[in-house]
Amino acid sequence: MTIETENTVPDYLIYPDVLHIAKVGEPVLRKMAQPVEDFGSPQLLSFVDKLLTQMTEAAGVGIAAPQVFCSRQIMIIASKPNKRYPDAPEMTPLVLINPTFIAQSRNLVTGWEGCLSVPGLRGQVARADWVEVFYYDQFGEKHRRRFDGFVARIFLHEYDHLIGRTWLDSVTSNQDILSDEVYLKQFAA
Ligand code: NI
Repeated sequence: MTIETENTVPDYLIYPDVLHIAKVGEPVLRKMAQPVEDFGSPQLLSFVDKLLTQMTEAAGVGIAAPQVFCSRQIMIIASKPNKRYPDAPEMTPLVLINPTFIAQSRNLVTGWEGCLSVPGLRGQVARADWVEVFYYDQFGEKHRRRFDGFVARIFLHEYDHLIGRTWLDSVTSNQDILSDEVYLKQFAA
């Protein structure tokens, strides 16, 4: 028997109005995100706009919905050179919904990552050096695309957020974790 009340709407079906960054330790960062079904809905489009604003304000190059307490398969990747990633290639922000893998390189490349949900730390993570994926945009159109190098790294980092992982779970060694301050001194001088 099921009792239906207004409170039975699962959290993941609600797009938050005001976005706050979920920091490591929040259960939402450990959940499998649910697929989006309401392509083109005003709620989804407005959420995607807010997510983009949040990412831009935080000077991030990517963000995933679980990072703002929304357990849905939505990510934005937006590689561009900035203070945190001076060598990043420039790209128009790309919204990827319900992404799936077609293929990925067996060749792994180690590189430094940081995360808005893991503030103050950087770590080395080995990632495939290219990926080919299917995804939907916010209007429900299906796309196929290949990402290389740093952009593949961003995709894989954000994809991890959709399956309940952060870079801390993939770090090559605990000895490869640095504070932001030490990282910037050593590598971005
Ligand atoms: Ni992250």
